[in-house]
Amino acid sequence: MGDSGRPSDPLGLEAEAMRRLGHWVVDQVVDHFERGPDGPAIRTGGAEDLWSALGGAVPEEPGDPLAAMSTLVDVALANMQHVDHPRYFARVPNAASFAGVLGEWLGVGFNALATSWAGGSGPATVELVVLEWLRGLLGLDVGTEGVLTSGGSLANLMGLAVARRSVGVGVAYLSDQTHASIGRGLGALGFAPGQIRVLESDARFRLSVDAVAAAVSADRSAGLRPGFVVATAGTTNSGAVDPLPGLAGLCAREGLWLHVDGAYGAPAALCQPGRSVLPGLELADSLVLDPHKWLFQPYDVGCLFVRRPGELERTFAMTPEYLADTRAGHGEVDFRNRTLELTRRARALKLWLTFRTYGAHGIRAAIARCLELAEHAERLLRADSRWEVVTPAQLAIVTFARRGAAAGEHAARVAALARDGYAAVTSTTLRDRSVLRLCTINPRSTEEDIASTLELLLADLHTRG
Ligand SMILES: Cc1ncc(COP(=O)(O)O)c(C=O)c1O
Repeated sequence: MGDSGRPSDPLGLEAEAMRRLGHWVVDQVVDHFERGPDGPAIRTGGAEDLWSALGGAVPEEPGDPLAAMSTLVDVALANMQHVDHPRYFARVPNAASFAGVLGEWLGVGFNALATSWAGGSGPATVELVVLEWLRGLLGLDVGTEGVLTSGGSLANLMGLAVARRSVGVGVAYLSDQTHASIGRGLGALGFAPGQIRVLESDARFRLSVDAVAAAVSADRSAGLRPGFVVATAGTTNSGAVDPLPGLAGLCAREGLWLHVDGAYGAPAALCQPGRSVLPGLELADSLVLDPHKWLFQPYDVGCLFVRRPGELERTFAMTPEYLADTRAGHGEVDFRNRTLELTRRARALKLWLTFRTYGAHGIRAAIARCLELAEHAERLLRADSRWEVVTPAQLAIVTFARRGAAAGEHAARVAALARDGYAAVTSTTLRDRSVLRLCTINPRSTEEDIASTLELLLADLHTRG
C-alpha cells in the first residue's frame, strides 16, 4: 500500500519525480520556443539512423524516463519540419502559441474528455463557449452549431455527411483547386465518380459561379439531381477565395447545399483585412476552419460549423443502451452526438486559454501581421527581375517562379533548401505551371527571414549540399 492507503500503482512515479520530469519537459519546450529559430526549419533523418536510435527490442525492463525523453527531444523531435519555425514557409505552417500549448497540456494532464455532458460538463462547456466565440468572430448566424474535430479533413468529411443526410443523394460541384480531402471525403461517403464534377477554375483559380450554373443545368437536363457546391475560402495552392456570395445565391435558387472549406483561410476573417476578402462566409450551410492552421493552436484541432440548428445531431447522434445514463438534458450538449468520434479529447481548452491570454485583439493583430508578411514578400519578388509573381499575396500565400526556370528546377531548389535546413518553401503546380509558394502564417517571421529565404532559393544549385 502507498501512503494514501491505496495499493501501490505499478505504473506510478513518486510525486517528486513527476515534478522533476515535468519541469524538465517545460524547460525543453520553452527552450524550443526561445532557441528553435536558431536551428533548422526542417530536418529529415535517414530511416536507418532513426531506427537505430529509436528502435530495438521491446524494452522489457524499466528504464530512466529522463534519458528516454532526451532521446525523444534529440532524435525524434529534431527530425521533422518545424512548422513553427519563422522560416518555415512550406505547405501550411503552424505557429502554435505558448498559451495553446499550456491549454493542451492541462487537458492531457487531466485526461479531459468532451464526449458527453455527464462525462465532462466542464470541458463541454468550454467547447460550447469557444464555438460561440468563433461563431461571433466569424459573423455566422446566431444558432449556428459547431463541433471541434481532429482537423480539416475530418471536418470536411463530416460537413459533407451532414449535407448528404439533409439534401439526399445528388451531384457535388467543386473546382480543380479544391483540397484533396474533399474528393477523398466524397469517395468515403459513397459518391460515385459520376456524382462529382470537378470544374476548371477561373483565371484567378476560383470556382466560377457561371461554370457551376452551367454544370447544374446540364446535369438537370441529363436527368441528374444536383445537390452540393463545395467552395473554398483560401485554397491551399494560392490562397484564392471562391466567390461565396455568388455561389450562395446560386445554391439558394437551385436548392443546393453550400459547403465552404475554410480550413486554411477562414480564420483570417477575424481581422478586418482578412474579412474584406472573405465576404459571404456567413452564407455557408456548413463551414470548416482549422484552428491548428491559422489560430495558433498546437495540433490537433479543426472545426465544423453547420448553420441550421440540429443538423449535426440529426446526422451523428448515437445513443446506445450503455450510454443511456450519460444523456444530456436541456441546454446541455453531448458532443459525441455532433461528430464521428465517441471518445474525444477536450480540444477547446487550448483555444479558450489562447483567447483568455491574448484576447481577440492580440489574435487579430497576429493574423493581420501574417497577411502583411505575404504582401512584403510579393513586393520583394516584384522588385527583383529574377523572379516573376504568378499569383499575388492572397490570405498570406504568394506564388512565384524564377524567370527562365528549367523543368524540375523549382522542385530541385526546394529540395536543396530543405537539405540545407535554413528555410522551407513549397513547389506546386498551378494549371500545369510549376511555381514556388510561400505561406506566411507565422507572425514571428520577419521581413529579413523572407528576404534571406528568397536569396538562398536563388543560390547556385550546383554548389549546394
Ligand atoms: C483548404 C484545406 N482544406 C482542408 C485541409 C485538410 O486539413 P487537415 O490537414 O487539418 O486535415 C487543408 C490542409 O492543408 C487545407 O489547406
